[in-house]
Amino acid sequence: MDVVSENNFCFALPKIELHAHLNGSLSDKILRILGCREEDVQDYQCASVDQRNLDDTFKKFGIAHKATYCPEAVYIATKNVIEEFSQENVIYLELRTTPRYEVGMSSETYVESVVRGIQDTKNHMMVKLILSLNRQHSIEKCQNHLDLILKMRSKYPDIIQGIDLSGNPIHGSFNELKYLFEKARKAGLSTTIHCGEIENSEEIKEVLAFKPDRLGHACYIHPNYNGCEKNWYQLKELKIPTEICLSSNVITGTCDYENHHVQEWIKDDLPFSLNTDDKGVFKTSLTQEFQYAMKFLNLSSSELWRISMNAIEHSFANSEEKSFLKSKLVDWKNKNLHFFTK
Ligand code: IMP
Ligand code: ZN
Repeated sequence: MDVVSENNFCFALPKIELHAHLNGSLSDKILRILGCREEDVQDYQCASVDQRNLDDTFKKFGIAHKATYCPEAVYIATKNVIEEFSQENVIYLELRTTPRYEVGMSSETYVESVVRGIQDTKNHMMVKLILSLNRQHSIEKCQNHLDLILKMRSKYPDIIQGIDLSGNPIHGSFNELKYLFEKARKAGLSTTIHCGEIENSEEIKEVLAFKPDRLGHACYIHPNYNGCEKNWYQLKELKIPTEICLSSNVITGTCDYENHHVQEWIKDDLPFSLNTDDKGVFKTSLTQEFQYAMKFLNLSSSELWRISMNAIEHSFANSEEKSFLKSKLVDWKNKNLHFFTK
């Protein structure tokens, strides 16, 4: 396939996004709709690979949080992010966000506004919500957020499917918050944990022992990427699907596109999906991430189609929803066989 056909394929392929943070996914267009100042719009995006700094990336979220300061802005942001994913043929989206309060907006109203945004874009595609705990928050605050998450889950059981641990990995610890994830799991929520974004084999070991349903990033697990043999062996045994975010890892300085840790997943045939993480901050799209996978990982159209298919299986959708999505993907392939001939 030539580059134009490859790009057309990556755009047209029905895609599955499992790792997208709401306030990291605001495009410049959405920020402008929200009335963001032009200098903030420019500052928010750290698309340059020269940035290469995790700490700087975390400062960018403050800009988005300023723009989504009230229920209406949260609602508009949610709707627009969903619409943008839909426009690039994402057929299933798991959006994640951290409950947040501002003057005039409680954490509960915040979550309600996101849910309302999801409900009002139902026609575009299937969307589920994952609520995040931030490892930088105090244990007490995380406990309060978990109470809210469980309340919201009972109110919106078809939408709220999972819980995530995110936030700047240099702060906090999974072990201190583990009991909250155990509670969430008991209440029926699926779990995904940002894991190994920095070198920390001890914490990675604790996360793997918890056996979450999915892992985010997993940059420093394999021994070739400053991880350790034992953790990699454990992951190979458990086969926990990993949410891979190529541009996010490259821009925050953990690796290059040409030498990304996902190569080890490919070699050992371990499950993974391709995701954007923060498409606004990293100025990317899921289409572009698939293009990078073709270019830098040498994956073929059949292999990328298979990644979409596998991601449906890794998703937190129910079995009926998974069957529906799988049949959509099969139908699409049957109608687009020209992309699959060499
Ligand atoms: P929000 O949860 O919708 O407000 O999205 C922004 C938040 O997601 C940030 O404040 C972080 O807590 C979290 N986040 C976004 N990207 C990353 C990442 O790469 N690693 C860890 N946490 C992240
Ligand atoms: Zn993330």
